[in-house]
Amino acid sequence: MIRKAGLDEAPVDGARVLLRVDFNVPLTEAGTVRDDARIRAALPTITELVGRGASVVLVTHLGRPHGQAVPGLTTVPLAKRLSQLLSIPVAHSPEVTGEATRRLVEALAPGGLLLLENVRFRPEEEANDPAFSAELGKLADVFVNDAFGSAHRAHSSTEGVAHFLPAYAGRLMANELMQLGRILDQPARPLLAIMGGSKLSTKLGVIQNLLPRIDGLCLGGAMAATFLRAEGIATGQSLVEEDFTEHARQLQSRGSGLRLGFNLPADAVVAPGLDAAPEEVHTCAVTEIGPKEMLLDIGPATIASWRDVVEAAATVVWNGPLGVYENPLFASGTRAVAEAVADSGAVSVTGGGDLQAAIEGLGLTSKFTHVSTGGGATLEFLEGRSLPGVAALRDSDEEPR
Ligand code: 3PG
Repeated sequence: MIRKAGLDEAPVDGARVLLRVDFNVPLTEAGTVRDDARIRAALPTITELVGRGASVVLVTHLGRPHGQAVPGLTTVPLAKRLSQLLSIPVAHSPEVTGEATRRLVEALAPGGLLLLENVRFRPEEEANDPAFSAELGKLADVFVNDAFGSAHRAHSSTEGVAHFLPAYAGRLMANELMQLGRILDQPARPLLAIMGGSKLSTKLGVIQNLLPRIDGLCLGGAMAATFLRAEGIATGQSLVEEDFTEHARQLQSRGSGLRLGFNLPADAVVAPGLDAAPEEVHTCAVTEIGPKEMLLDIGPATIASWRDVVEAAATVVWNGPLGVYENPLFASGTRAVAEAVADSGAVSVTGGGDLQAAIEGLGLTSKFTHVSTGGGATLEFLEGRSLPGVAALRDSDEEPR
């Protein structure tokens, strides 16, 4: 288990704190925050710092402006939403570092909050430029990183700055490390993994790392078609990664002895395409997918059998939707399995941006033990890789509880 020093060990009382958050949230066309889950997830750390009299300088990226000041990616709407959520003012700096920021930081009272402009407006950020990291470091006495969702990036505000200030994990970061770490190190058994999403190529590392640790696997999403094709099944127009069928075959053979099974869909919801009319959508056995059809969701027989598998699990780790859930015609699989997991009483940990949005949309977030705020970071963690933004934080001196 990764043990990093957190807020209990951090000298933040009355201090100036640079807090890296991941407020990389979707915006509406009008430029307001469409989904504030990631902002809400950081509130425990922010309110604790405010309560402990810290002056808090928040820094985040938004989107991928790649070193350019892109007006549509300003952090102004994020400061507004944070202020609404906390019911206290949040100042905003029109730059990341510089004279204006220096003055605003100096004016911060204990318990005051300041959000900097999008850190990716500066080209030095993604280059992890040490001079820029040092500049960020000069804004505070202590660095707290609560941006688990960005921890797989070795950038100045996630990694570099931790070499210039004493660096600690915020509450969200610590919780993510604990919940996801338990999946890899000491899960309640049986441990079931549910994997979905469109491409096996992006999930291969996770499946390979989880296989020796799990007791069962359910594999849905378009990626299931690559496994079916590897078995010699004709999958019509389904998205198949031909280069990965051999990987699929090997994974299936390695997983053949799992006590809760290596479960592929037995039936599917199919249609000629994503924008099919309702009358073109039907359910069939996976062996009967027509040449002009594609697999777009798991079918009812699969749902029924996976419900039983979920029932038998003590822990469920789930990444990726099981169908094209954004279209109600192809959302039944993700919805039914999410409800089964939520009702099962198993420890349930999910991650990956799409699935988080699906579970939130179903109103089931509070019924899951942990819905990770990470996308790529969660995947890399579950792949067993070291995350630069985590590695750079201080190790904990506390005895494990
Ligand atoms: C995410 O949304 O996964 C994180 O905020 C990281 O964003 P990035 O992929 O643009 O680095």
